Amino acid sequence: MPMSESTFQRLPTFRLEDYFSRWEFTARHHLTASDAQSMSIGELLALGSDDDRAAFDTLGLGYVETRGGDPLREAVAATYDACEPQDILMFAGAEEAIFWVMQLAVEPGDHVIVPVPNYQAFEAIPLAAGAEVTGVPLVDTESGWTIDLDDVRGALRPNTRVIGMNFPHNPTGAVLDPARWQDLVDLCEERGIRLVSDEVYRGVERDAARRLPQAADLSPTAVSINVMSKAYGLPGLRVGWVASRDHAFLDLLERHKHYTSICNAGPSEFLATVALRAGDRIRDRNRDIVAANVPLVDDLFARYADLLSWHPPVGGSVAFARYHGPEGANRFCRELVEQAGVLLLPSEIYCTPLSDVPDRYFRIGVGRRSVPAGLTALDAHLGRR
Ligand SMILES: Cc1ncc(COP(=O)(O)O)c(C=O)c1O
Repeated sequence: MPMSESTFQRLPTFRLEDYFSRWEFTARHHLTASDAQSMSIGELLALGSDDDRAAFDTLGLGYVETRGGDPLREAVAATYDACEPQDILMFAGAEEAIFWVMQLAVEPGDHVIVPVPNYQAFEAIPLAAGAEVTGVPLVDTESGWTIDLDDVRGALRPNTRVIGMNFPHNPTGAVLDPARWQDLVDLCEERGIRLVSDEVYRGVERDAARRLPQAADLSPTAVSINVMSKAYGLPGLRVGWVASRDHAFLDLLERHKHYTSICNAGPSEFLATVALRAGDRIRDRNRDIVAANVPLVDDLFARYADLLSWHPPVGGSVAFARYHGPEGANRFCRELVEQAGVLLLPSEIYCTPLSDVPDRYFRIGVGRRSVPAGLTALDAHLGRR
């Protein structure tokens, strides 16, 4: 094949990350955070044993294994039913995992289906790799956000190689019901399509019964992507992973990881292992924070019902709420951050070549303890209008 046919294209601006570069660390109230409440190294180590604390103090700072050290891969594998440590490959965050998975799962000319709106890397990477990509919309229905499996079936082509999914979904907080999730897994298996499932928000479903089984447990060719950033609230570790029983694909990913991060940071691996062993406690804490914040948002939105409405997240810590004012959500969000220092993500952030999101949505995050203060500032801004 001539070089040009397989050349990876330049990537477009990552609209969400670009907006965050401007505002994430300057706005007074980050009311759109997708990562749950974080903690300090001291708080995290307090969840471990005396041996953990002593071992962290004397930890060496050499390279670690590209696949991830044994204790970490064992702790990750323990979060799956069918996956073993040899089915796990660590990455620097979910972002590096998406970068390689969505590139290497396709050849130029292959077809990929992804949800829209989405975390932009999910569509930008396969597009840059020369794939054709179709977006299947999350639909805002009376009973909540959902994806219609008939839309997924309707988007199928003979050359569809990958279906990407993301439940709990960013930005809508939607979770498919388990029967339809299994239908999707079956559909992929029947057609020889690889299911790539971004599960980074799994574990903070408000009703634990809505937690879906992980794709890599359900199908031997599926790929589950996960990370310490969201449900565990530890994005600063930059520890993510891929779980898959398809070892040929894991080997391919590993050979490409040699060109990006090579391996994780050793201290991060250590701390991630401690966090995973205390995983239930951390996720329960974060679920409680979401559960405490949702009624506060309900309350505020009820008082401004002419302007604001939402479906609370079924899973994860973000929701895609509606703004009904005449100036639209984009202008509302910009004025809000400029005048009141409250950061929300306007719908334009989610407009991409695959998706034209109407100017009436914004993303709100409900996974942090700072949410009440952000809502108070939002309330004051609305009251001044
Ligand atoms: C759906 C989804 N996948 C992946 C990522 C990337 O995660 P990380 O920053 O931990 O690499 C994000 C971050 O917002 C996300 O929302």
